[in-house]
Amino acid sequence: LARQDLAGETVLVTAGPTREEIDPVRFVSNHSSGKMGYAIARAARRRGAKVILVSGPVCLESPYGVETVRVKTAVEMRDAVMSRVAEAGIVVKSAAVADYRPVKRAGSKIKKSDGALSIELEKNPDILAEIGQSKQGAIVVGFAAETDDLLANAGKKLEKKNLDMIVANDIGEPGAGFDLDTNIVRILYRDGRVEEPGIMSKDNLADFIIDRILLLKSRSSD
Ligand code: PMT
Repeated sequence: LARQDLAGETVLVTAGPTREEIDPVRFVSNHSSGKMGYAIARAARRRGAKVILVSGPVCLESPYGVETVRVKTAVEMRDAVMSRVAEAGIVVKSAAVADYRPVKRAGSKIKKSDGALSIELEKNPDILAEIGQSKQGAIVVGFAAETDDLLANAGKKLEKKNLDMIVANDIGEPGAGFDLDTNIVRILYRDGRVEEPGIMSKDNLADFIIDRILLLKSRSSD
């Protein structure tokens, strides 16, 4: 049996992409497979936590013993997360939420015409920023998927969204990012520390992230 060092904790994890429909056929989304977030949910459960997993549309099975809430859009993900977040002492947001959604969803399939087609997009709510503002003693961990200026951009998100730590991956780096079984991350903390654990399987990285969360928790209760 794995060490039960999360016994008594409730962990809320988000995973996967969100899907913002243009019409009944098409949508705006991204390449997230959910593998990173599901690995975290499984690891947290194995280590004794009660786990709530809010998942966008992915092809993965709900992990055993985890309460999985399936959503499609960013707005649905926000509602699911905000209705459960108060229960959680630890929140890990590995979902790749679409920042924008079409202003209008066409009720029937948009027909092809001769000219170009423009789709107007509007901003989705920033779920993590909302949690960061309302957190009461919970440890809140974000992810950052970047293609440029990894540390600078992740550092800004850590600050702006009021997170305890952020796990940054450069999705252009071979071995890192979407849909792979491995990831390469830098973990940034509020005191300016940066950890660089090197390439790891997403399963091992999930345990590594949980180890770091437990360290933060033990320090904050000192
Ligand atoms: O799912 P996989 O295929 O395994 O891939 C893993 C991953 C690359 C998706 C994962 O490691 C990752 O980086 N997830 C975060 C992707 C992302 O959306 O990053 P971001 O920099 O756009 O967002 C920063 C943080 O804010 C994230 O924690 C995100 O969940 C959150 N966010 C973003 C936008 C928004 N509207 N609401 C949010 O809560």
